[in-house]
Amino acid sequence: MLKGKTALVTGASRGIGREIALTLAEHGANVAVFYAGNRDLAEEVCALAEQHGVSAKSFQCDVSSFEESKSAVEEALQCFGGIDILVNNAGITKDRLILQMTPEEFERVLDVNLKGAFYMTKHLFPHFMRKKSGKIVNVSSVSGLFGNIGQANYAASKAGLIALTKTTARELAGRGVCCNAVAPGFIDTDMTAAMPEAARKAALESVPLKRMGTPKEVAQVVAFLASDASSYITGEVIRIDGGLCM
Ligand code: NAI
Repeated sequence: MLKGKTALVTGASRGIGREIALTLAEHGANVAVFYAGNRDLAEEVCALAEQHGVSAKSFQCDVSSFEESKSAVEEALQCFGGIDILVNNAGITKDRLILQMTPEEFERVLDVNLKGAFYMTKHLFPHFMRKKSGKIVNVSSVSGLFGNIGQANYAASKAGLIALTKTTARELAGRGVCCNAVAPGFIDTDMTAAMPEAARKAALESVPLKRMGTPKEVAQVVAFLASDASSYITGEVIRIDGGLCM
C-alpha cells in the first residue's frame, strides 16, 4: 500500500506514534522516527520497522522548538531524499481545572501539540509544494471536538489542530497534497495509564464498545489516510473512539 514512500512520524518512540511508524513500515514505507528524548526506544522502533524490509532512521526532535524541528526535518529530507507522508503525532497533557491551571501549563501544551504540528507542516510545506503530492495526518482527539473537563489546554490545542488541518488541506489542495486528522477517544497507552483509576472506569462506562481502543486501531486509520486508498479525502476528521462521541 505504501511501497517506496517515506513517512515522518513525530513522537514515534512509544504509544500511538510507535504503532503508526511500525504500521506504515508494515505497509512498505520507509520511516523517519522522530523522538523527543528516548533514543534507545526510537532505535528499537527503527530495528522493528526494518524487519519489514524498509529503511528506518531516528532523529531527535523537540517539535516545540522551531529551530530544532527545522534542522531535524532538513536532516531527514537529506537522508531519505524526500518525504511523502507527515504524521504529526507528538502530544502531551497537563490536565487541571481552569481554576487551577497556570498560564505556563496552558502554553506548554499549546506549544507541543499545536505549534509543533504547525512547525513541522511549515518546514515540509515547500517540499510538498514542489513534489505536487503528499499526505499529512494530524493526531487530534475527541477532546478537541467536544471539550473535556480538566483539559482546557489540551482540548484547545486539539481543536486548533483540526483548524490547522482544514487550513493546510485548503492551502495544499491545488498541489495534490491531502491533509486529514484522526480524533482518537480512549486509547490504551502511557497517556491514559496516567489517569486516576476511577476516571478510567467512568470513561470506559461511557464508551458504547465498552473497551479502550488500541494504538493499532489508530495506526490502521492513519495508514489508510496516508495511502492512495484515501485519495479523494482531504480536510476530514475521523473519530476512532468506539462510538464515544457519536
Ligand atoms: P504518549 O505519551 O505515549 O506519546 C506521546 C509521544 O509524544 C511520546 O513519544 C513523547 O515522547 C512525544 N512527545 C512529547 N513531547 C514532545 C515534544 N516536545 N517533541 C517531540 N515529541 C514529543 O501518548 P499517546 O497516547 O501515544 O499519544 C500520541 C498522540 O495521540 C498524542 O498527540 C495524543 O494527544 C493523542 N491522543 C491520545 C489518546 C489516548 O487515549 N492515548 C486519545 C486522543 C489523542
